Amino acid sequence: MPFTANRDFKTAPRLQTRSEGVYYWNEHGDKILDGCSGLFNVAAGHNRPEIREAVYHQLGELDYAPHFQLGFPDSFELARQLSEITPGDLNHIFYTCSGSDAVETSLKIALAYHRARGDGHRVRLVGRERAYHGVNFGGLSVSGIGRNKEAFGAGLSGVHHIAHTWLPENRFIKGQPEYGAHLANDLERLAQTCGDTIAACIVEPVAGSTGVLVPPKGYLERLREICDFHGILLIFDEVITGFGRLGTPFGADAFGVTPDLMTMAKAITNGCLPMGAVATKDSIYETITEAADEGLIELFHGYTYSAAPVVVAAALATQEIYRREGLFERAQAMTPIFLDALFSLKDLPIITDIRGYGMLGGVDLAPDGKVGHRGHQTYLRLYEAGLQIKATGDALMIAPPLIVESSHVEMITERLKKVLSAI
Ligand SMILES: Cc1ncc(COP(=O)(O)O)c(C=O)c1O
Repeated sequence: MPFTANRDFKTAPRLQTRSEGVYYWNEHGDKILDGCSGLFNVAAGHNRPEIREAVYHQLGELDYAPHFQLGFPDSFELARQLSEITPGDLNHIFYTCSGSDAVETSLKIALAYHRARGDGHRVRLVGRERAYHGVNFGGLSVSGIGRNKEAFGAGLSGVHHIAHTWLPENRFIKGQPEYGAHLANDLERLAQTCGDTIAACIVEPVAGSTGVLVPPKGYLERLREICDFHGILLIFDEVITGFGRLGTPFGADAFGVTPDLMTMAKAITNGCLPMGAVATKDSIYETITEAADEGLIELFHGYTYSAAPVVVAAALATQEIYRREGLFERAQAMTPIFLDALFSLKDLPIITDIRGYGMLGGVDLAPDGKVGHRGHQTYLRLYEAGLQIKATGDALMIAPPLIVESSHVEMITERLKKVLSAI
């Protein structure tokens, strides 16, 4: 089982059998509040009939068609819709099968772009400490969570990491800390050290899986400046932060910084079918396509399930729900209620830090021995108390579906309080 304590699970399996709205039911019939939108992907709530019907209809029309040298009208329509909500001129969409694939794709496009413009010596990639960029070798290499990497070799060569953005003086700050923009200067240090050999710098606008690290004010702006000055492409990995999680379409909008490439996945289909995508600037698409000979393939990359019709149908139905229900705006309106509720836990002695932005919160717990033990035990107790969240190490992550009502937020807080007070 993926990212699971397998032996522990098998002693007491937790089996989910049904979902609806903001709830799951397990095999015993217990009703469990979904405090993490599945895995940050079920933004519009579970079991939406519009998506189910779109998928069913699509299966009867065109179940599958390869996307190599062939097209499918709705995939272009989806690309058009996505490019309308991506900022700036991030207008070209490349489909992938997951967030991990989107990361690999963004890194490969960055390298291919520099090569196409005759700058092929730019081969280095920069990630950040504590980053999560999926599980494939490129993403793992630029990731910065040691436990995820240690069993799997040395990773790609030519990869560097800049400092993470957690500072002890910024504990218990709601939203963006005032202090810490200077941490971006670590990229300047690398640019000086590596000369003009850096192809791209990839960051999550808010580092998610490490426990929600919100960028200090001015930090992303400074990264953008350094990238522009040194000709480095800036990639935002928006796999968690995309589709309204921060109260705006993307993290780029929330922080007013536009990257050159952007990954997305998870909530693109409301989680019910696997899909990812990379949005690139016009100039990146044009440079790569124009560098190849007419009539020949320009980018030797793609997946059997790139833009599979059924998945596209789910994504289109999902985007329609987001627009019709104004879910990104709804997330923005719910943010103060959600963050105030989360920060009301601040005096519980077991909690050492709380962070949050939009409908995404992180709570650090004091460890009780091996890193991750307390996080996992707390996760289990919360599940027993009817609340599903995500634990990484000793941090808990809370990210309810964007359709939650205040009463659900209260329930989440009460269950957290009850369980955390008892530990
Ligand atoms: C920022 C980020 N990038 C990439 C991924 C990997 O996505 P997937 O699990 O769909 O491969 C994740 C997953 O949580 C993520 O948070």
